[in-house]
Amino acid sequence: NTHRDPIIDISLCISLINGGVAGLVGVTCVFPIDLAKTRLQNQQGVQVYKGMFDCLAKTVRAEGYFGCYRGAAVNLTLVTPEKAIKLAANDVFRQKLSKDGHLPLWGEVLAGCGAGTCQVVVTTPMEMLKIQLQDAGRLAPTQAAAAPGPAPSLVAPAARRPSATGITADLLKTRGLAGLYRGAGATLMRDVPFSMIYFPLFANLNALGRQSAGGQADVQAQAPFWQSFVAGCSAGSVAAVAVTPLDVIKTRLQTLQKGEGEDSYRGIVDCTKREGPSAFLKGAACRALVIAPLFGIAQGVYFLGFGEAVLGLLG
Ligand SMILES: *[C@@H]1O[C@H](CO)[C@@H](O)[C@H](O)[C@H]1NC(C)=O
Repeated sequence: NTHRDPIIDISLCISLINGGVAGLVGVTCVFPIDLAKTRLQNQQGVQVYKGMFDCLAKTVRAEGYFGCYRGAAVNLTLVTPEKAIKLAANDVFRQKLSKDGHLPLWGEVLAGCGAGTCQVVVTTPMEMLKIQLQDAGRLAPTQAAAAPGPAPSLVAPAARRPSATGITADLLKTRGLAGLYRGAGATLMRDVPFSMIYFPLFANLNALGRQSAGGQADVQAQAPFWQSFVAGCSAGSVAAVAVTPLDVIKTRLQTLQKGEGEDSYRGIVDCTKREGPSAFLKGAACRALVIAPLFGIAQGVYFLGFGEAVLGLLG
């Protein structure tokens, strides 16, 4: 671990391939739930959607199956660069914080936080675009019901349907780079606590049952696959649910187009006054259902050694 100069590139490359593949498979599997999450979190006043299943059913009816994948292209394109930054930063921080090849738990947490902070450079614009695209058809079911004539939702929204490049150009023109980075602070406020819960929880669940001589959990020892899988899913969903209030704030801050009668999000207190504290748990179940498979799939891809196999094929 101490003198790893030539090794670092290879292991980073392997992690990157694994992370990229896991990201692509993960997005494909759970994006519709992520879309339901965004729409449920933005819902104020009129209850268009009663819950996750209702949201998915109405979305399919109003916008077709691909309607559930609005904004998925953003994730599919940017998930690999996002992972690259996080992995590289995590590696650098871990090396800097290690003493004699040993990294204490606080060092692991700190490295995770540092990596999360660097990742926000890609995550924020990514979330910004994804949220506008996911939210674009949110009120389509009500509009379809209100408008007379044959299923106008099938024809009309296509013309108004925004694209990622269109939104980017618009934001850059009207608000500059700051427009793309709206909600960066909220993203950090969500992702840093997430890592602070996820990393230690995962490390300890993963080491459960394997004690080192000192009686402490032996974090270094290799865990069997099923244990890492369960540890990843559990730590991911616990962390995801715990930071849901911060995610609601972030989603509302980043949503530019509000429906009729919906408030622009003015602040935390404002939100509790109007909707009660339960507003902060909107989309919590969806978040657990998005994050748990994402982390489980990642464990699976790492276990199968996808990156190793690809590099092996290349010689
Ligand atoms: C899409 O990317 C954002 C930003 O990293 C992430 O928060 C979200 O969970 C991703 N969604 C899916 C379904 O992978």
